[in-house]
Amino acid sequence: MTIEELRGQFDREAAEATSPQAWKSLRDRWLARDSGIISGQMRRMRELNPQERPAFGKAINALRDHVSQKLEKALAAAKAVPGPGEALDVTRPCFPYPTGHEHPIRNLQREIERVFVSMGFQVFDLPEIEEDYNNFESLNMPEDHPARDAQDTFYLGGTRLLRTHCSTVQVHAMKRGRPPIRAVSTGQVYRRDPFDATHSPMFFQVDVLVVDRGISLAHLKGNLEVFLKQIFHPEIRMRFRPGYFPFVEPGAEVDISCIFCFGAGCKICKQSGWIEILGAGMVHPKVLRMGGIDDAEYSGFAWGMGIDRVAILKYGVDDIRLFFENDLRFLEQF
Ligand code: PHE
Repeated sequence: MTIEELRGQFDREAAEATSPQAWKSLRDRWLARDSGIISGQMRRMRELNPQERPAFGKAINALRDHVSQKLEKALAAAKAVPGPGEALDVTRPCFPYPTGHEHPIRNLQREIERVFVSMGFQVFDLPEIEEDYNNFESLNMPEDHPARDAQDTFYLGGTRLLRTHCSTVQVHAMKRGRPPIRAVSTGQVYRRDPFDATHSPMFFQVDVLVVDRGISLAHLKGNLEVFLKQIFHPEIRMRFRPGYFPFVEPGAEVDISCIFCFGAGCKICKQSGWIEILGAGMVHPKVLRMGGIDDAEYSGFAWGMGIDRVAILKYGVDDIRLFFENDLRFLEQF
């Protein structure tokens, strides 16, 4: 048989081989060191006369390369395809795939919004870059008001600033709709505070505004009670202390009974049994008027609270920075 004919024979045999076993036996048959067809041909070289040897050697080497390349390729391809019984078992337990989840603050933000949606409130998503008018002026903090101090506020130049509270929901809600108004807004606020265990230059707030005929302090208390019980604990109690905020009159600071000792007195509440949680009050008549609402006909209440503070209390975290450093060892615990 000539080398050419051998090549044709190999190609025919290779075309018929369809399993890894068939490829392996072809490899033994053709390439085995002593008994293989190729080495048999190599041995034939000795019988040839010296002039014929170089051409024969070249042809047999080419045949050997052809055979081994084709077999290698076929065997590699056969390895990649699972044979019968080796197919992918989709019921096999897999490696735990790390899926993330929402940040605890974001989670709380949504939980708070859900409580208000269930009470028929409209949720406002408001800008973090604000006009001076919306953040201060419309909330009864005129130009010389101490709360506007550049020490406390990030001014962006012109009349723009980073909002210092979510109470901007008051002006936005009054601008967009007529009473009855039931508005809630949550989001980031910014103050020029240090970044330490209890302060952060960026934190989260929730603010609420209700305006209608005959709204009184009783409505404010009722609203807060429903909300605080849902967010903290059904047994929670609250108390109002007089507090000053320029956009409410009267204004109050609201405490809840300590969620750690239930009022008995502990380290967290500094033995007082109470924890200060939010600011609230009846919307100042001036604020209503600036919002285009007749304060003789309508009244309203408003309150605002730090969401991070709720998270700190709810989860017993003692350093606010943990919420913003995105250390997975911390976040994975929620
Ligand atoms: N905006 C106030 C703050 O940031 C909270 C507040 C809201 C107080 C509404 C009264 C009424 O502390």
